[in-house]
Amino acid sequence: MNLILAGESTVSDTMEMLTVTAVRGLNILGSLFLFVLGVLAAAVLILFIIDVTQTKDTVRRNYPVLGRFRSVFSKLGEFFRQYFFAMDREEMPFNRAQRDYINDVSDDGHETVPFGSTKVLSPGTPIFANGLFPKLEGEHTPKPAFVIGPNTPNPYAPKSLFNISAMSYGSLSKPAVEALSLGAGMAGCWLNTGEGGVSPYHLAGQCDVVFQLGTGKFGARKDDMTLDEGKLRDICKNPLIKMIELKLSQGAKPGKGGILPAEKVTAEIAEIRGIKAGEAAISPNRHVDAGSPAELLDLIEKVRKASGRPTGIKFVVGNITPIKELFSEIKSRGLESAPDFITLDSGDGGTGAAPLPLLDNMGLSIREGLPLIDDLLREEGLRERIALIASGKLVTPEDVAWAFCVGADFVNAARGFMFALGCIQALKCDENTCPTGITTHNKRLQRGLDPTNKAVRVMNYCKAIQKEVDMIAHSCGADHPRDLTREHLLVVQASGRSKPFSQTWDRSRYI
Ligand SMILES: Cc1cc2nc3c(=O)[nH]c(=O)nc-3n(C[C@H](O)[C@H](O)[C@H](O)COP(=O)(O)O)c2cc1C
Repeated sequence: MNLILAGESTVSDTMEMLTVTAVRGLNILGSLFLFVLGVLAAAVLILFIIDVTQTKDTVRRNYPVLGRFRSVFSKLGEFFRQYFFAMDREEMPFNRAQRDYINDVSDDGHETVPFGSTKVLSPGTPIFANGLFPKLEGEHTPKPAFVIGPNTPNPYAPKSLFNISAMSYGSLSKPAVEALSLGAGMAGCWLNTGEGGVSPYHLAGQCDVVFQLGTGKFGARKDDMTLDEGKLRDICKNPLIKMIELKLSQGAKPGKGGILPAEKVTAEIAEIRGIKAGEAAISPNRHVDAGSPAELLDLIEKVRKASGRPTGIKFVVGNITPIKELFSEIKSRGLESAPDFITLDSGDGGTGAAPLPLLDNMGLSIREGLPLIDDLLREEGLRERIALIASGKLVTPEDVAWAFCVGADFVNAARGFMFALGCIQALKCDENTCPTGITTHNKRLQRGLDPTNKAVRVMNYCKAIQKEVDMIAHSCGADHPRDLTREHLLVVQASGRSKPFSQTWDRSRYI
């Protein structure tokens, strides 16, 4: 009996305690809620006062606090469109189908697709003319090596027809450059240093390296931005340096030099570039010592002599007259004076940062520039002398095969390899906030980019492109991508029907 009474009192005590605790809890929650509400109201009031008193933003001044959601939703829209709403083939500069292709082949080196093509044959789409009797495996005649600069002391026979385009250490992060170098080493392709000089990370993978001398000549310049032949000679003691590329322009910003802001010029970057730490690295709009075709040929000769390497130029086609003048000057001096190669970039090429009008509206696309320069070189009798390297959104097998049909000897890609590194096209290259660690010097963001792992993806991508371009060539009955000609290429017209490229290409419109 006593036990039962004791038990009843324990139960009612516990109930009472629970009730008191619950009431206290509710009181605390209520107070907390009121406190949070108070803080929110205060914050809204402060934002309201800020918005109505500021004069910079009209929407916020007219619609205080609410007006702020506009920019938040605009920013969020980018993500929602990319992940949920954009169709597979409609984003720019690269659509999801292109990015997925690169991502897939970078993962395991090959891609097959089920059921059937989902591609809409929009005007401009290349169609390749397959042969009736493609060769069997093993029937293909191997091609002799393609040699660039055969008359230089160190001619170069590249192993790969698909290579990594110029991107400097500075615009790219250390682990990104390292991964590219390791991947290039494994794939056997070359890596172009971009205009920021040769860093230890470019050499990490023991790959072939093309040393680019931008208009600032970083790494081999005197204080007045003319060539320091001694420094160039020293750099070229390294046998990994295979060629020198003088950049006259790049498609994303023709006629505009680059600037690396002072805060990004660390002691290491300053040493590599041969400039002062903490001062902005400015490259001029053109080489100070090459203001005419004659001066350019003099500079090419100086670089070739000091480096002992095949020496070429990179530019995007715009005004055709100075290009014709350059070719005439070469002819009047003799073929040996010519650049050993021309890297032809596209008006819609990529960059770490460029002004919008130059990015959008300056320079011809590679789709026009490549056939034009190939034609001009042939007419001037220079085509055999000068190798032609093409770049500009040539990142999938059909784009690369297009370039071989039209006249390229090699194809370079920059952003294709960025996708292989894990780029998600967040469009933050100029903000030091790249979420994939590729174009940022923020150590926390770089942490996710493992160079060893990404190097394998770089190799897979490079090899997959070569294999699939080979496949296109073989399907056309050609032995090698360089045997592809304009006769193998048809282009879809606005009518939906295709026409042979030769019937659609009208050079007289440009010259
Ligand atoms: C991040 C980044 C940095 C670049 N830096 C250079 C450079 O230093 N020198 C240069 O000639 N081109 C530079 N480019 C241009 C590329 O080399 C290439 O010409 C252009 O992006 C077109 O190729 P793509 O469409 O395959 O990217 C850069 C491009 C990117 C995306």
